[in-house]
Amino acid sequence: MRESALYETFARQPLAFEKGEGCWLETIDGERYLDFAAGIAVNSLGHAHPHLVAALTEQAGKLWHVSNLYDIPNQRTLGERLVAHTFADKVFFTNSGAEALECAIKTARRYHYVNGQPERYHVITFEGAFHGRTLATIAAGGQAKYLEGFGPKVEGFDQVPFDDMEALQKAIGPQTAAILVEPLQGEGGVRRLPNASLRRLREICDKNGLLLMFDEVQTGVGRTGKLFAHEWAEVTPDIMAVAKGIGGGFPLGACLATDEAAKGMKPGSHGTTFGGNPLAMAVGNAVLDVVLEEGFLDAVVQKGLLLKQSLAAIADEFPDVIETVRGEGLLIGIKCKVPNALLQQAMADQKLLVVPAGDNVLRLLPALTITDEEIREGVRRMHDAAAAVHAAQKANA
Ligand SMILES: Cc1ncc(COP(=O)(O)O)c(C=O)c1O
Repeated sequence: MRESALYETFARQPLAFEKGEGCWLETIDGERYLDFAAGIAVNSLGHAHPHLVAALTEQAGKLWHVSNLYDIPNQRTLGERLVAHTFADKVFFTNSGAEALECAIKTARRYHYVNGQPERYHVITFEGAFHGRTLATIAAGGQAKYLEGFGPKVEGFDQVPFDDMEALQKAIGPQTAAILVEPLQGEGGVRRLPNASLRRLREICDKNGLLLMFDEVQTGVGRTGKLFAHEWAEVTPDIMAVAKGIGGGFPLGACLATDEAAKGMKPGSHGTTFGGNPLAMAVGNAVLDVVLEEGFLDAVVQKGLLLKQSLAAIADEFPDVIETVRGEGLLIGIKCKVPNALLQQAMADQKLLVVPAGDNVLRLLPALTITDEEIREGVRRMHDAAAAVHAAQKANA
């Protein structure tokens, strides 16, 4: 007998949740978990945020979907707001991060095409990157485990070691169109590109006529304490992919670009049925209402500091369990000495949810609305989890 009708693509934990509020989730058996996963950086304002619930239910009573055959006023509004708060002049709405990346890659290729250089379609990425699971985005990410068995890798993606500027410059050729990077790799293990490297990438792109593309699917919409992570480096891209937190849990992504970078995207050159529909737009606008409130992003920075400092103390106490703590704002990585799955299980035993990442890291990405008291409660649980792993290690030694 088969266990389930679902594809077996996910290694799911045996947990099923029924409801959530803020940073708390409740299982169907009534057990409460403290949620430092937030749907992998998606529930940016926690579960069932009243402003988001009101925006979605109000829109649901009026109009769900009309398609992009027609003007969608709240799509226009969200586009204008994103443009007003970023480097961008133009926005294309999608349903997911991978679709936002697909749009970004197509935008870069079209730019060179309309410039009379159709041979320039290659995109350079860094090792450890993650850009999604479509055929083009697994090629961009370049990770063998995601490419295996899916036929020829989509052509036009060249990868260089993480933050290796020399290798990157050597990889630039007559076919190169763009450089695509995450300012801070999430899935890759919460690895931050130094600000100086981001600025260097801008210079290299300008010198070589390349477009600079940032993937801020995970780092965007306040996650690091700025609206977008690249703002820390005071550098702007030509194209940017956004998703996850911008929808607060509703499927929503966006590709942002300057007028110049988007100049090849004309009627008919790209499309989507669901992208930018009135429900998603109502929620996206509601998320921005909150994230753009005065003081909201500063509070994220303060909460991130509290979390990181508290974790550093745990790392000092259990150096056999935790190697280092890294990250920015409320995207924190615990680099483990023990297998990360072991510490994750110990945290689950404490009813604390976190997310594994590459490089033997555990990711903490709670709702941006988490309170200091909830951070302290999470830290208490992490301390007890680290202590349990430490004790087990000692017993086995
Ligand atoms: C940096 C980054 N880019 C792209 C994606 C793909 O987004 P989605 O799963 O919504 O397609 C993710 C998802 O984890 C991501 O973290």
